[in-house]
Order: sequence, then structure tokens, then C-alpha cells
Amino acid sequence: MATLNVNGALREFEAESDTPLLWVLREQLGLTGTKYGCGIAQCGACTMHIDGVPTRSCVRPASSVTAAEKIVTIEGLSPDGSHPVQKVWASLDVPQCGFCQSGMIMAAAALLKSKPHPTDKDIDEAMTNICRCGTYNRIRKAIKVVAQGGNTKSAGLAIKHTDGSVS
Ligand code: FES
Ligand code: FES
Repeated sequence: MATLNVNGALREFEAESDTPLLWVLREQLGLTGTKYGCGIAQCGACTMHIDGVPTRSCVRPASSVTAAEKIVTIEGLSPDGSHPVQKVWASLDVPQCGFCQSGMIMAAAALLKSKPHPTDKDIDEAMTNICRCGTYNRIRKAIKVVAQGGNTKSAGLAIKHTDGSVS
């Protein structure tokens, strides 16, 4: 029996030494918000945080993570979906099918914590996750809106209407 520190609680699990963290999270701890896409660290669907660092859990053996390291999954990002990234994601209707989105949100949350006002280059470098629905433009916009405190106007995303009003 081994122990992980997940979303602020110590959780016990049993696994082979090479079992990926993703499977412990999903199958033993019931945290199914973290998704399986490729299994080879390419798509980012399985992204969660270890001590604040976005990590692809499909290739990280659970046995390599100690109880002193703090794991945060999408379920632990906020108690009620109120993390600024989650709020802007919802207000801008970023997801399409949604499958990649927990990984996207975790990658974006880590980026914005380390760089509250990321440049396009910062976003390109941090957001290497794959979305088969092609939501990349909305993800970039959402990150910029979060960086502007949730304000679409100051993020340069204001819409000019035919009556002259701006929203
Ligand atoms: S499932 Fe881990 S990167 Fe694709
Ligand atoms: S929203 Fe469908 S894969 Fe990204």
C-alpha cells in the first residue's frame, strides 16, 4: 500500500511499480475528470499538477510520486468550478466535445499561475495539448480574458455591434 496526496487529502492505493498515475487516479481514486487520450505523453488529456507543475499522468509511474508532493486534478482546482480559468472557459463556451478540456484547463491554470500575463509565445509554448475539435482559438482567447481579470474588452475581444454598442 502506498500513499498519494491528492487534492488536499492523503489517499492510499496499490499498484505495480510501473502503473501510470493516470490509472491510479481514475480507477482507484475515482477521479475520472483526468482523461486518457494517447498514453504516450503527446495529447495532454491526462494533464494534472504535481506541486504546481503540469504533468502528463499517463507516463508518470504512480510509484515515483511521494506523499510529500501535492497532486491537483481538475476535481481539486476549485470546490465548485469557480477557478478563474473555469469561469472564463464556461462564459466563452470554450469546449466542444469536452474530452480534452480538463487537460487544457489544467495546463492553462498552471501557465497563468506562473505567468499571469502570458504572451502568444508563452501560450504556444505552454499549451501543447491536442484538441480534435479544434478549440484552439477559443482557448487562446480564454487565456487572454483570464489574464485581463475576466474582462473581454480589456483583453481586446470586444464585439462591436451594428447599433454602435460594444460588448
Ligand atoms: S493521455 Fe497522456 S498525453 Fe495523451
Ligand atoms: S473539445 Fe473535443 S477534443 Fe477538444
